[in-house]
Amino acid sequence: KVYTDYFYDKSAFNTHDGGYVPLEESQTPPQPLNIPAVLAPDQETNSDMYYTITAQTGETQLLPGAKTKTWGYNSSLLGKTIIFKNGKTIHLHLENKLTELTTFHWHGLNIPGPIEDGGCHAPVYPDGSRDVTFKINQPAATCWLHAHPCPSTASQVWHGLATAVVIQDDAEAQLPLPRNYGIDDIPLILQDRRFHENNQWDYQADYDPDGVQGPTAMINGTINPYFDVTTQRLRLRILDGANRREWRLHFSDNLEFTQVASDDGILPEPIKFTHLMTTCAERHEIIVDFGAYKPGDDVVLYSDDTPIVHFRIHQFASDNTKLPPHLVEVPGPEIDAALPVKHVVMSGMDEEVMIDDQKFNMQRIDYKMPLGKCQLWDITNTNNMKGGMIHPYHMHGTAFKIVSRNGHAPYPNEYGLKDVVSVNPGEHVVLKVWYDVAGIFMYHCHIIEHEDGGMMAQLQVVDPADPEHKYQLMDHE
Ligand code: C2O
Ligand code: CU
Ligand code: CU
Repeated sequence: KVYTDYFYDKSAFNTHDGGYVPLEESQTPPQPLNIPAVLAPDQETNSDMYYTITAQTGETQLLPGAKTKTWGYNSSLLGKTIIFKNGKTIHLHLENKLTELTTFHWHGLNIPGPIEDGGCHAPVYPDGSRDVTFKINQPAATCWLHAHPCPSTASQVWHGLATAVVIQDDAEAQLPLPRNYGIDDIPLILQDRRFHENNQWDYQADYDPDGVQGPTAMINGTINPYFDVTTQRLRLRILDGANRREWRLHFSDNLEFTQVASDDGILPEPIKFTHLMTTCAERHEIIVDFGAYKPGDDVVLYSDDTPIVHFRIHQFASDNTKLPPHLVEVPGPEIDAALPVKHVVMSGMDEEVMIDDQKFNMQRIDYKMPLGKCQLWDITNTNNMKGGMIHPYHMHGTAFKIVSRNGHAPYPNEYGLKDVVSVNPGEHVVLKVWYDVAGIFMYHCHIIEHEDGGMMAQLQVVDPADPEHKYQLMDHE
């Protein structure tokens, strides 16, 4: 079976937003797609890895003419790709060379909060640093690192503080998937920007409480990119790293592709598509087979009708690898019958956004759930203002399984581990939620301006061995 639609409610697509900014085809000369280098450890042993990660400012040649002022991790824009192996203990030296405070949030990592997780409560001040240590304990996946100071996550990510994190494990290593980084296995970070005078970005000028958008697609920090295809199969680790944009992806000739992983791991079975919609912060790993093309061909990836990446086909060895019908066993504990269903309501748009009729308060713990127990969470989007909009709901520090959408089966590519689920207007989505680590964790809409605007709450995962643990919670700046 090949799926050819986008599943979500068409009437709620971002194209209906009052402030919608359509993508425009880039008029700048084609550039080779930036493939971020892999971040080298400072030191490593068989069990431990040590890294320094520096948030910094810089300048990047994005367009002909003036360079653009940008931010990045160990680079002028975005960052290096960080590769962690399951089972390793990671030691990080986090440095802030910006002029404002930042945090280093590990989106998709099952690590304790609020400090290691790097949400709002783990500031690193200008010219300061912080050291954190955590152990990787989760399946292979594409995750990401991004800034998360409240309430300036949106502007910091917009300036460039986001980068791909790849988790590797033995189960993934057994599968016949491309994994030659930079050759047949590449991140594809989808973002959009508006260039103002002198090729500069201006977050304030572009501000929209429903999410800042720009007309120019920026892929891995490249404007109008092409990628030289030298293998028949290519694995794309797609990350919607945009503040607000939904991407409705399809290739020229309606080329089929196969999704093999979602946010936090490999899918139980590969799913074939011609069209795929991604919402903010989601990850989709897809395999594209260029077997029907010949050297000189140009295969185009579009979002809606705008070309965003050109794949230039070169000579490649033929590759008849078939994916097995079953890929991995997806973990998921039994629901604890003693726990009630936890309800979460996302409401409003613009400045009105809330969770459970409240704005985020850093000092308030909105909910407690026990460590190691599995509970049903029912997430509702009551947003019906102006036709409503889709809210991508995210939880820190864990991955969940999607049980149902309005009582029906989840979408076909939603049977793996996820940490973002987009909820249609009027819909309620039931999740199986469990935590392997204790602490304070945020849950929020991942339209980043909604998150900064208060569509966020926090829970405490209570360790029965230490139920009275007092966490130091920051207050708003
Ligand atoms: Cu990408 Cu609060 O997270
Ligand atoms: Cu997160
Ligand atoms: Cu939202």
